[in-house]
Amino acid sequence: MERVLREGAFTGETHIVTGAGQGIGNRVAAALAAHGACVALVDLDEGRLREVQSELAGFAATEPLVVPANVTDEEDVKGVVAAVLEATGCINGVVNVAGITRDARIAKKSYDDFKAVVAVHLHGTFLFTREAAAQHWHPLFKANGNQPLDDGVNRYIVNFSSVSARDGNIGQVDYTAAKGAIEAVTRTTAREFAGYGVRVNAIAPGPVRTPMLAAIGDEGMAAMARTTLVGRIAEPEEMANTICAIADPKLFGYTTGQIFHANGGMYRA
Ligand SMILES: NC(=O)c1ccc[n+]([C@@H]2O[C@H](COP(=O)([O-])OP(=O)(O)OC[C@H]3O[C@@H](n4cnc5c(N)ncnc54)[C@H](O)[C@@H]3O)[C@@H](O)[C@H]2O)c1
Repeated sequence: MERVLREGAFTGETHIVTGAGQGIGNRVAAALAAHGACVALVDLDEGRLREVQSELAGFAATEPLVVPANVTDEEDVKGVVAAVLEATGCINGVVNVAGITRDARIAKKSYDDFKAVVAVHLHGTFLFTREAAAQHWHPLFKANGNQPLDDGVNRYIVNFSSVSARDGNIGQVDYTAAKGAIEAVTRTTAREFAGYGVRVNAIAPGPVRTPMLAAIGDEGMAAMARTTLVGRIAEPEEMANTICAIADPKLFGYTTGQIFHANGGMYRA
């Protein structure tokens, strides 16, 4: 993974990345590791995460942590945050990438699918946000036995919205509901966490070349590309590099509560 920031930009830091098994989350984990971070890899399948760990070991200064979890499971998420704190003593960043789709028009949408999609995106984002604060960032964390972070230490969250939060998308009433809510959650979290020095932002990508998007096929992808001003689908590395910039307090230290519209000009913010 090519480095786009200064060498060692995140050296000595620990960053949790959900959905690290494939797609954008995988590239985000690689990009953060390439800049010196210890990355905690979260996804459903431990075997896949072990493969990612070996792939990243080739260039990561610190061996990535493998912490398999279902982001919708409260006990799993509590366990991830506790395990990462046990291993490194500090959490500097959380990137909530994990996601699923279960596309069907509203009349045909099962309630179970609706709940499953909202759970992964919205509930997963909430659970990681709460646990990072409850176990570590909140001023009362000393009651939990953790040491306070020094002033000036990097602390951030990046959540994942989508261009479809604003535009809507046929077949994705659940997905767009969750993404719109994630933008609102991002603004509320930014307000609450500002007092603990945590910057909270979201990225709202347009179409990105990943297994999730592959479901719409080549023709669908070509049609999506035509709706952008740049005339192409984004590569996951481009989203990962944007996340690295947002995660870097030297670049975006004065930015919180914002939605980054990385959509190739599909709409103007
Ligand atoms: N690809 C796009 O065009 C696009 C556009 C806008 C937004 N997004 C958003 O970007 C994020 C990543 O999307 P992607 O395209 O890389 O998807 P992807 O399907 O390629 O990868 C998603 C990852 O999340 C993991 N995951 C799913 N459910 C989980 C759960 N319950 N617990 C833990 N991990 C779980 C999957 O195993 C997978 O590794 C998602 O939030 C998605 O909504 C993607």
